[in-house]
Amino acid sequence: MSDIGRRGFLVRTGLALSAAVLTEACSRTVASQYRPQSPFTDWEDLRAQFPLSPRLIHLATFFLASHPTPVREAIERHRMGLDADPIGYWHEHEEKQEANVLQAAADYLGAHPTDIALTDSTTMGLGLLYGGLQLRSGQEILTTIHDHYSTETSLRLRAERTGTVVNQIPLYRSLKTVSRDEIVGSLRKGITPATRIVAVTWVHSSTGLKLPIHEIALAIQAVNRSREEQDHVIFCVDGLHGLGVEDFNVSELGCDFFVAGTHKWMFGPRGTGLVWGHPNAWPIAQATIPTFSGQAYELWMENKSSKDLPPSVHMTPGGFHSFEHRWALDEAFKFHQVIGKARVTQRIYELNQQLKQGLAAMRHVTLHTPMSQDLSAGIVCFDVNGLQPRQVVEKLRKRGIVGSVTPYATKYVRLAPSLINSPKEIDDTLEEIRKLGAS
Ligand SMILES: Cc1ncc(COP(=O)(O)O)c(C=O)c1O
Repeated sequence: MSDIGRRGFLVRTGLALSAAVLTEACSRTVASQYRPQSPFTDWEDLRAQFPLSPRLIHLATFFLASHPTPVREAIERHRMGLDADPIGYWHEHEEKQEANVLQAAADYLGAHPTDIALTDSTTMGLGLLYGGLQLRSGQEILTTIHDHYSTETSLRLRAERTGTVVNQIPLYRSLKTVSRDEIVGSLRKGITPATRIVAVTWVHSSTGLKLPIHEIALAIQAVNRSREEQDHVIFCVDGLHGLGVEDFNVSELGCDFFVAGTHKWMFGPRGTGLVWGHPNAWPIAQATIPTFSGQAYELWMENKSSKDLPPSVHMTPGGFHSFEHRWALDEAFKFHQVIGKARVTQRIYELNQQLKQGLAAMRHVTLHTPMSQDLSAGIVCFDVNGLQPRQVVEKLRKRGIVGSVTPYATKYVRLAPSLINSPKEIDDTLEEIRKLGAS
């Protein structure tokens, strides 16, 4: 067996074996019991892990992560090793590091490593998934008008390439009156006998609205009870702005595929992401880019079929990667585990609530994101009377506050308080927005 073959084989076989044992032991629930000791004494201590400019109030770190100390140090360690001896370092670390990353992701997600494919971004995951889901003639895709460019474009490209029908529906009439029932009801009404795929986004980066994914999943399960297995609706979620914010286990969320980048709220290395698939759903995903899994490569060299390998292996695109980044991803999951998912959610909710309440009390501001935490997460969208969103963002930037404009046809000012922010920073931000009313 070649080096690449043996190493890859050990990685995936090891994972497959431990997954098999776990399957018996835990009936496909949570994986291992990773419980590191917290190195953080408080939120200021946590903020000190990031080399973010202290002169700025960063309310757009969800756009692209700043690397916290453990992630930065791991990247640097791998970079030095690869620079000193690329092939030697790769042989020595590839097996172990890929296993570490998959296990850390599985621990965090409450999943099994063999159900996870590693990608470079949300967009790569969405493109591969929506491009590769196998549909029979007449089967259609249902999606919404609220999704990000990456979902919409992945689906359009698929439609253009294969002729698949993609139906787009609104999920609510107005953000002022939107409710969980309205969202679930709209989605349910959009499902026809031809619908095979449902493609939605957990937290809309256009408005900050959070969809009730679990309730939608329950509605889809009810539909599926009266369908043959081959016609089951497969529920796919762009979970980017829920991962690293919400306190959840992916296997309990109820969706079939969960796609996310890990280089935003998760603080993972830039250029990392994943696709999780339910074991029953993975088989309908067909790969586009050859995997560099050692098993697949080895079977190829032996002129044997690799079709029996786990689909997540095939869905992990190959070619060599920026390994110093990919191999440091486990540190980001551990970083979040140290804080604890519940504390992460609570802190982000509190800061966002503070911001929304402050904004809602200003007469010159229109808050678009729902106040309720059932319908929002870590993104707050609003307008300031008499100013374009771009002007507001520029004015705030001049005052040291970093926000962004929603990159959609309808544009809003977007601020996203996260773990690196403090209540004082939110107060200071509100004060500056208050002054915009007087100008
Ligand atoms: C909802 C949503 N999905 C996908 C993306 C793209 O993410 P990535 O940069 O990981 O491809 C973004 C924004 O960057 C987004 O807001």
